[in-house]
Amino acid sequence: MAFKIYFIILSIATLALCISAEYNSVNFSYIGPNGPDKWGNLSPNYAACSNGKIQSPVNLASTDIVLNNGLKSLDRNYVPTNATLVNNQINIGVHFEGKVGDININGKNYSLKQLHWHVPAEHWAHGRRHEAELHLVHLTEDNTGIAVIAALYNLGDPDPIISKIEDNLNGLYFQNREGIKNGKIALGTFDVEELNKRIHRYYRYVGSLTTPPCTEGVIWNIIGKVRTLSKEQLKLLKAPLGLEFQHNARPLQPLNGRKIEKYYCHHNKRQGTKTSSTKYH
Ligand SMILES: *[C@@H]1O[C@H](CO)[C@@H](O)[C@H](O)[C@H]1NC(C)=O
Ligand SMILES: *[C@@H]1O[C@H](CO)[C@@H](O)[C@H](O)[C@H]1NC(C)=O
Ligand SMILES: *[C@@H]1O[C@H](CO)[C@@H](O)[C@H](O)[C@H]1NC(C)=O
Repeated sequence: MAFKIYFIILSIATLALCISAEYNSVNFSYIGPNGPDKWGNLSPNYAACSNGKIQSPVNLASTDIVLNNGLKSLDRNYVPTNATLVNNQINIGVHFEGKVGDININGKNYSLKQLHWHVPAEHWAHGRRHEAELHLVHLTEDNTGIAVIAALYNLGDPDPIISKIEDNLNGLYFQNREGIKNGKIALGTFDVEELNKRIHRYYRYVGSLTTPPCTEGVIWNIIGKVRTLSKEQLKLLKAPLGLEFQHNARPLQPLNGRKIEKYYCHHNKRQGTKTSSTKYH
């Protein structure tokens, strides 16, 4: 019974987020005949991937960034929650079973459901692509609203979040070698309080899911401060995936006139002109 419920919840979560509608039916890829430029042809459900006008990821370029003093700080108070490390086949993620915490955007609550990584980064900053990107996927209670907090990574010191799951990432790698492409490993109580750190700068725009069905209306919040991960961790995030998913970043999509709004910590306002800086770093 517990397993059944768990499975149903997991299925609903994956369906809602369209990570991979059914685990063994991922029919898109990042290379070859089902690559990103063909996603829109693979299913009528994927039409937005080719017809959409507000797609993701995008390049965060200073010419498209506008400071918005009306944006609110992105306060988070995530609490340790029971979680499962999941090989989504197209990427590696952590799915939460309980309530981790909410973010509030324009008066609406979005609750953290899962996080996952892309290698290399999907969003670019000033024409530069970083080594990896973390997506914290939040949903409204009715599952219709999606808000993602994204963080970019450079190579450097190990990322404390990934450090906690290194052995389990190895576990997923061995599962994959044994033919289990959609491996799962229970993590027990998983602590992401490290992610509650104050965000001094972020970039907001409305885009889409970066994987089919490329659903639009996703509120993106890209943290200005770049995180670091080690070379070893980068390898661990790729190793459990099939070769066609080891590079799992969708190419850049056109902004089509969209502006990217910038939040800049109000505490630093007194430093004068710095506030109006449009530099990414
Ligand atoms: C690809 O998968 C989607 C979702 O499962 C499905 O709707 C579609 O028919 C599939 N397309 C092909 C060409 O297999
Ligand atoms: C959002 O969630 C917080 C606590 O998590 C709650 O106090 C608040 O009433 C909620 N707001 C809305 C608009 O549902
Ligand atoms: C945590 O989730 C696992 C499944 O991943 C489940 O077997 C276990 O009972 C859960 N533990 C708690 C404390 O809820």
